[in-house]
Amino acid sequence: MKAVVLVGGEGTRLRPLTETIPKPLVPLVDRPSLDHVLDHLARHGVHEVVLSSSYLESTFRAFIEARHGDPRITWITEAEPLGTGGAIVNALGAVADGPFLALNGDILTDLDLTAMVAFHRERGAVATIALTHVEDARPFGLVPTEPDGRVIEFREKPTEPVPGDVNAGTYVLEPSVLRAFPVGVPLSIEREIFPRLIAEGLPVYGFRSDAYWLDLGTPAQYLRAHADLLAGRVAGEPAYAAPYLAEGARVHLRARLGKAVVVGPGASVGPDAEVDDSVLLAGAAVEAGARVVGSILGPRSRVGAGATVIDTVLAEGAAVREGAELRGGRVSAGAVAP
Ligand code: GDD
Ligand code: MG
Repeated sequence: MKAVVLVGGEGTRLRPLTETIPKPLVPLVDRPSLDHVLDHLARHGVHEVVLSSSYLESTFRAFIEARHGDPRITWITEAEPLGTGGAIVNALGAVADGPFLALNGDILTDLDLTAMVAFHRERGAVATIALTHVEDARPFGLVPTEPDGRVIEFREKPTEPVPGDVNAGTYVLEPSVLRAFPVGVPLSIEREIFPRLIAEGLPVYGFRSDAYWLDLGTPAQYLRAHADLLAGRVAGEPAYAAPYLAEGARVHLRARLGKAVVVGPGASVGPDAEVDDSVLLAGAAVEAGARVVGSILGPRSRVGAGATVIDTVLAEGAAVREGAELRGGRVSAGAVAP
């Protein structure tokens, strides 16, 4: 089985972190989030993956070269963003010698892909959509199904806060039905392709599961993913120490770290500083007596001595002045707050 992984989004909601790091390359504990996605695919016997993006391949070259072994990676650059559906149609030539997987690249999940593919085959589906239950479907695609799993409707980003099964961003697709769509034209799989297949009466199924599932798109969810990974809630992932200190991290003996904390390579926490529910990316520094809670500190960013930083995102090289207090802050790359 082959897979297309969509990595072309702009990561808007993770700004300012994504000002300098493409979303798939933002680290999750010990390696880029895209590594977690590719390792999950490999565990389910996917040995060939096409990464589809409008980013330049060169942005990811170091990542691709650092990864060797499973799965084998090919890269497709879109001259202009083709949207989720256009990107998949555009990649058909590389994957479509039979049913294949297509994935949103910004999801952390331990979904049983092997069982999902078997379900797809048993039902004789043209498309199978992984579903997960949420209490508020507004940020997602709402996908009501019949009791046997047949999809009734696909409603992307509903306006009312309703609970329900939503699109989990993993699909098994039959190439034959996708060949009806034009190549090289922007298309949304959620707003155009799935609604059309359903309207034509083709067998589109939903695969429900209560697997671990999280969209990494916002700072709050990004922190949530770390807390869950460190607590061992994601199957197939390493048993991380909590707090997690990367190689070369320096934490002063008099610093206090909560459990859901990652101190990245070369990052440091000074004496009497306190860090909880936060991620310090490579080379980030929390100076003496500072307090950091619920925050993401980008690579080589700095929190000055005695500062308080809560629910804040510092981009690469950003800084918070000594003694300052920042709540809900977003500090751009290289900028100094307040
Ligand atoms: N190659 C390529 N080209 N990839 C793209 C493009 C594009 O033009 N646009 C978006 N992507 C990628 C993103 O990088 C991401 O991995 C995936 O497609 C989904 O895009 P998002 O922008 O993250 O969409 P979303 O989170 O608002 O909604 C999607 O995911 C939800 C689950 O997290 C939809 O698929 C919803 O239906 C779904 O519930
Ligand atoms: Mg998303």
